[in-house]
Amino acid sequence: MTLTITPSGQSCGARITGVDLTRPLAPDSVAEIRAAWLDHHVLAFPDQKMDDDDLERFTQYCGGFGDDPFIKPIPGRDHVIAVKRRADETSPLFAENWHSDWSFQARPPAGTCLFGITIPPVGGNTDFSNQHAALDAMPDALRAKIEGRSAVHSARGGYAPSGMYGTGDKDRSMDIRSGDEALATQLHPFIRRHPETGRDGLFGCAGYIMGIEGMDDAEALPLLYELLQWQGREEFRYSHVWEPGMLILWDNRSLLHRATGGYDGHDRLLHRTTIAAWKGAT
Ligand code: SIN
Repeated sequence: MTLTITPSGQSCGARITGVDLTRPLAPDSVAEIRAAWLDHHVLAFPDQKMDDDDLERFTQYCGGFGDDPFIKPIPGRDHVIAVKRRADETSPLFAENWHSDWSFQARPPAGTCLFGITIPPVGGNTDFSNQHAALDAMPDALRAKIEGRSAVHSARGGYAPSGMYGTGDKDRSMDIRSGDEALATQLHPFIRRHPETGRDGLFGCAGYIMGIEGMDDAEALPLLYELLQWQGREEFRYSHVWEPGMLILWDNRSLLHRATGGYDGHDRLLHRTTIAAWKGAT
């Protein structure tokens, strides 16, 4: 197998051709893909005729399945969820705020796989923001405010019964199950070392960060807003344009991501798996 890796030219992202993900991969091919993933943070594999078995096998190569709370898997699968929206859906867009998947967990997932099945002809990009680049370029004064501090992560804003996807959420085609377990909190340092590359980056974002440990909200909330503005700056971004039959694989330890709209009147369906925390990660 000869992989061709074409960088996006933006702050992260590469397109990978020369591999057929409907077939089992040799260990050296898996190693090559993993190395490209760590270098580019988000990889896109176009023209893959994958089914859910193929998606699950690929996820196993990347580190095995993580734990997906709050979203019911598709029928017949334990680890595949559907990210979907009907053409006429009126509920707020799913995952529209910058976030790192399930960062409220004690050991958040290393990465995520998302396979495009029904892709609208316009809109629906997935945006990424490189959080190593965001930390490297951060002004000293802002960095000093978060250095050595931990953020309070929680799923409550989205998945508690009172949250965005809670009991008041109507007309959503995704099978989201809110619950009181979303009220739990988990601390993570703002600046985290990537467990595989050793590179420091910013971890998480206002999407799941509710506060700052040891700081009252009057001080913490404006700082979180200032951070959010910094983390999502244009120069750290890559906007991924989907094609049907395209798989993407991203690194939740290096990136924030968010869904975008602009495709009202068109269906959108993708299948997603979550990759477990790397075994060496704390
Ligand atoms: C997600 O965050 O898993 C969804 C991204 C998207 O729908 O583009």
